Amino acid sequence: MLTLDALDSRLSTPTRQLAAPGPGEAQLLRLLQTAVRVPDHGKRVPFRFLRIQGDARIALADAAQARLLEREPGAGDAVVQKLRSRFTVPPLTVAVIAKLGPDEKIPDSERFATASCVCLLLLQAAQAEGYGAQWLTGWPSYDRRFLEDTLGLAADEQLVGTIAIGTPTVAVPERDRPDPRALLAEWTPA
Ligand SMILES: Cc1cc2nc3c(=O)[nH]c(=O)nc-3n(C[C@H](O)[C@H](O)[C@H](O)COP(=O)(O)O)c2cc1C
Repeated sequence: MLTLDALDSRLSTPTRQLAAPGPGEAQLLRLLQTAVRVPDHGKRVPFRFLRIQGDARIALADAAQARLLEREPGAGDAVVQKLRSRFTVPPLTVAVIAKLGPDEKIPDSERFATASCVCLLLLQAAQAEGYGAQWLTGWPSYDRRFLEDTLGLAADEQLVGTIAIGTPTVAVPERDRPDPRALLAEWTPA
């Protein structure tokens, strides 16, 4: 059984510090089995995945770089290299896509929330299996041209984020976490 200690140990490993090996086919499917176990109002399954690995990482970095230079023709080399490294450094990236077509009952926000939960569970699952992982967005998550022409998203889909997964090359220091005591208030009737 998962303990609170295991849940509490979650932290992100920066993508540039994720090296090979990453999860293979069977291991990734095992991680996704955990990740899909999300609360899902109406059982809509409002998410899907794209795997980016091997040479596809370079092709995606090339496409992202081309789009970046269309958006920002003056982008400097540091910006370009940082963008490329997000896709080329980790051995595996999983794009988590929210499927948000018309729905009479379940609002988009709830279906997006479900897809967001998938991301968190995928981070937790990866770490539980000894990997490091990080959830990234940035402009590639919101640029419709990149999303539709390069990643193949439909018009009613959104990229919740990319989850980079690999073997940590550093021990990541803990950061300050919110104090729940400062966040908890008692509701009382007016
Ligand atoms: C929706 C979402 C998008 C994020 N996008 C980025 C990003 O584009 N770049 C980045 O450096 N961190 C991004 N982060 C933050 C990292 O995933 C991570 O949470 C952060 O490095 C802090 O580490 P922690 O998860 O251990 O608290 C994002 C987090 C979330 C939830």
